[in-house]
Amino acid sequence: MGHDLIQIGAGQPQGLPGGAVPATAEFAIASTGAGTGKTFYIETFGCQMNVHDSEKVAGVLVQRGYRPVHRHEDADIILYNTCSIREKAAQKVFSRLGAFRKATSAEKKIIGVLGCVAQQEGDRFFERAPQVSLVCGSASYPQLPDLLAQIESGNRRVKGLSLDTEDCFETEFTRRDNRFRAYLTIIEGCDQRCAFCVVPMTRGPERSRSGAKIIAECQRLADAGYTEIQLLGQIVNAWRDPSAARWSFAELLSRVAEVPGIRRVRFTTSHPRYFTPDIVQAIDSHPALCDQIHLPVQAGSSDVLARMSRGYSREDYLEKIDCVRKARRAISLSTDIIVGFCSESDEDFEKTVTLLREVEYDQVFSFKFSPRPNTAASEFGDTVPEEVKSFRLAALQEVQRQIQVRRNQTLVGQKFEVLVEGCHPRLGQAVGRTTSNRVLNFPGDSDDLGSYRQVRVTSVGPNSLVGERVEEN
Ligand code: 5AD
Repeated sequence: MGHDLIQIGAGQPQGLPGGAVPATAEFAIASTGAGTGKTFYIETFGCQMNVHDSEKVAGVLVQRGYRPVHRHEDADIILYNTCSIREKAAQKVFSRLGAFRKATSAEKKIIGVLGCVAQQEGDRFFERAPQVSLVCGSASYPQLPDLLAQIESGNRRVKGLSLDTEDCFETEFTRRDNRFRAYLTIIEGCDQRCAFCVVPMTRGPERSRSGAKIIAECQRLADAGYTEIQLLGQIVNAWRDPSAARWSFAELLSRVAEVPGIRRVRFTTSHPRYFTPDIVQAIDSHPALCDQIHLPVQAGSSDVLARMSRGYSREDYLEKIDCVRKARRAISLSTDIIVGFCSESDEDFEKTVTLLREVEYDQVFSFKFSPRPNTAASEFGDTVPEEVKSFRLAALQEVQRQIQVRRNQTLVGQKFEVLVEGCHPRLGQAVGRTTSNRVLNFPGDSDDLGSYRQVRVTSVGPNSLVGERVEEN
């Protein structure tokens, strides 16, 4: 979900005009790294897990005395946290590195590559891009302090590439960039072998953090002023408490929702295979659990799903949706779709379209199949021509656009509580988000940031809503 380029604006909190300093305890700690002279810049590509990994890496660096800067030109260490989910995403880091090939100013800089492309390319990075001094996959982040110590002592070929780990990346301090929504990883790695997906090869085996550690972190986040927490995992609902307490994922959700001060809890990404009715029951019983579930289906044809090794059929998936639809609260649904997977026929594709019409998602993230190294699907052959993939993607997006317009129109006149996450001072607009994850713009300013406001919807587009503030009561 949301595999867009996201730049962690080192030191630049989101949603604040003019670089105002946010009043969170976490930022106060971040600032103590200033003055040592060493600086770093991180650019992040890909998913929320990567965004949050970068926040933790930044925490490790700040604790070692490094100071974040906004521009790579000003940094002693430049880190790229990479994404390899599709070929296009993987290429981005090479175009960034290209800029340093001849630059003499790069000579004194340390350039490091983190994340999924680092893991995938491994040692080859040093040959392909000799300007790179550090190559480290996410399974090796627990070793980052050692790796940084090696860099500091002058080693210019430092790597962390072992996938053989049972450890999670625990940090004493995480330098969170988002003031309003705190990301919190509960499970790392992935043991599924979906035929298309590179993640098990790049992020290593599944490992869950203990329930007690997660709750303690939630409490610290609430104390630091966060009211919204987003629990993260490649398959977040595969989380199982490794401690003797043995909480289920649904129990964990309930306990996070009960942490005093936490008003909103989201979790992503759920795999349909592990999506059990107790998750819906937990949402029903805990108002703090948001009215939102992201449940990637990938395809509407059971044949394609079987070739993808997803572990469910179209019918199985629709049963899960039925369970969500029967909840006491209306729960907003979103999904991921891959078009043009190996041997996907016109009839297969049509089944994806009918599934979208049947489920009526509120949001769909859709992608053209991109063969990835060392996956089962890379052996099947990339049989669907590029033009067909493009045609199917456009057709699917148009169907979904109409669904969203229609669904959003039913919201006109309704009142929602939004958490204000941003603002456009020049437009006099505040940007809020409803519990169902819809963006709702309304007249407001920076005073609204971080607050919960009641807003009535006055008009809608396919991707966002517009409204006006109503009296709180
Ligand atoms: N090609 C295209 N899309 C992919 N995704 C994962 N692997 C691939 C691939 N090889 C999509 C899936 C997943 C989302 C994060 O990215 O839809 O849910």
